[in-house]
Amino acid sequence: MAKLIGGLATSHIPAIGGAIHKGVQQEPYWKPFFDGFPPIHQWLSEVKPDVVVMFYNDHGLNFFLDKMPTFAVGAAPQYNNADEGWGIPTLPPFKGETDLSWHLINTLMEQDFDVTTCQEMLVDHACTLPLKLFWPEGECPVTVVPVCINTVQFPLPSAKRTYALGKAVGEAIASWSSDKKVAVIASGGLSHQLDGERAGHINKAFDLQFMDSLLTNPEWATQFSVHELVDKTGTQGVELLMWLAMRAALTVGSPTVRKVHSNYHIPISNTATGLLALACD
Ligand code: DHB
Ligand code: FE
Repeated sequence: MAKLIGGLATSHIPAIGGAIHKGVQQEPYWKPFFDGFPPIHQWLSEVKPDVVVMFYNDHGLNFFLDKMPTFAVGAAPQYNNADEGWGIPTLPPFKGETDLSWHLINTLMEQDFDVTTCQEMLVDHACTLPLKLFWPEGECPVTVVPVCINTVQFPLPSAKRTYALGKAVGEAIASWSSDKKVAVIASGGLSHQLDGERAGHINKAFDLQFMDSLLTNPEWATQFSVHELVDKTGTQGVELLMWLAMRAALTVGSPTVRKVHSNYHIPISNTATGLLALACD
């Protein structure tokens, strides 16, 4: 059976793509953000995952307001990045893991998650940036199964439901007949609001409590409704649902997790950036 080795979580602000492209990671604005990554690169070079399942939210590239699935799973042999209007370079396509995609889809459907299956899927910054941040050198060494969770158009799935989805994804990974090593990635958050009266809203106290809860009490955030989460973290801060799904998946890999490394820095663009790596060992 496949081995679930751990989880990774990072914010996915488009400007990060521009900073990587310009090579300005060591400039004072960017350094506190990029300095979080080397200890995680070190861990990844030791544990060497083959495949990642990526919880992320599409921002209007592949799905638009006319058709918005709550949960969508990629089942494509290859995922193409497309110009989404942020002025960041389009990255080369990356490889899917269709065998795990279909195992995941079948397992989720058996557990009453009515997922949308996507045999073609364009991916935006939320899917491409974490791969570039965690594997900055050369070609991406992992194959990917993208799992898209709607955090864009209401109604959104509840934190409780998202946690249950994450757990079911963890169970599917653990029952995949393969000798591959799998990591789960969460892309998004932490607190941010890009527009409206509260544009620029950041909630450091809540973010830090949330990050802490993932170590000690993973279901903590499921007590909040999505409206409460938006109130606390901003309209886009609700992307933290991805982190919750990732952590729920790990409960299947191991009863406890070990923190490899974390970082928190305010702000990059409009966003409180969070970074976390958890090992199942
Ligand atoms: C920003 C953050 C996001 O999560 C996103 O998807 C787009 C922009 C930002 O802070 O600029
Ligand atoms: Fe986003």
